[in-house]
Amino acid sequence: MAEDMTSEGHPNIVVTIDQGVQTIHMARADKKNALTTAMYAAMVAALKDGEARDDVRVHLFKGEPGAFSAGNDIVDFLAAGEGNGLARDVVHFLKGLATADKPLVAAVDGLAIGIGTTMLLHCDLVYASPRSLFRTPFLDLGLVPEAGSSLLAPRLMGHARAFELLCLGESFDATRAESAGIVNRVVADGEVEAAAMKAALSLAAKPRQALAIARRLVATGGVATREDLMARIDEEVALFAERLASDEARAAFAAFLGRSKK
Ligand code: COA
Repeated sequence: MAEDMTSEGHPNIVVTIDQGVQTIHMARADKKNALTTAMYAAMVAALKDGEARDDVRVHLFKGEPGAFSAGNDIVDFLAAGEGNGLARDVVHFLKGLATADKPLVAAVDGLAIGIGTTMLLHCDLVYASPRSLFRTPFLDLGLVPEAGSSLLAPRLMGHARAFELLCLGESFDATRAESAGIVNRVVADGEVEAAAMKAALSLAAKPRQALAIARRLVATGGVATREDLMARIDEEVALFAERLASDEARAAFAAFLGRSKK
């Protein structure tokens, strides 16, 4: 079946629909898939559109070979610290993940940093290659955990591992991420996308109403209610905005950007 290209939003976000699966492809390889505000806006539009369309049953996120996402673009973080905090599109993206009714599947091959890791906590099925690396260096950047991760991660993997991931900023390899419950299955390099698509197609073929009910029950059953999650995201966003403007964060952003210019 021919793929239906639906994205007119942004060249770094390529959206396709095939057999009920909407693939949201983060495609900014030269910057390791660091996410700009415009990319978030395009993903928000895709999620919203996919939630509304009858021909979409499942959302699938994928990145580039070697880089799922290097997290929020640090140039944008710097600008946000000088402006009004996290851009609205970022917040809408976080809430879009938290409120999606259709299942979220992810294919991770390579780096998953910051939001590249925390968005996975919202996903129902995550497939990762052995070379994948999961890291949330929030504190090293003078920031605090976001995307509801301060609620989702401790409930998912226990306080100790969540603290190690979110506060110590330690990298989790794919096997560790699997044992922490971030990843469903580690599959061979080069087979991640196929594995994720196979699972997404299988979900897309399920009876629609049963899928929606089951997804909602499971998504809000073991980890957090949607209301808890939205309240925590709001709390984190407010604190994150303060941190973006802090001297600690601004020094960390300047250090990273100075390094990358060398
Ligand atoms: N924001 C903006 N630019 C980023 C970026 C980010 N989050 N991550 C990577 N880039 C850019 C680099 O500046 C570099 O740009 P340049 O080629 O114009 O200099 C390019 O992407 C490639 O990255 P580079 O650092 O050269 O690749 P690497 O393989 O050595 O390292 C990372 C990759 C992702 C480990 C490293 O770039 C990194 O630590 N990035 C920041 C991650 C981060 O802190 N994200 C925010 C989390 S809250």
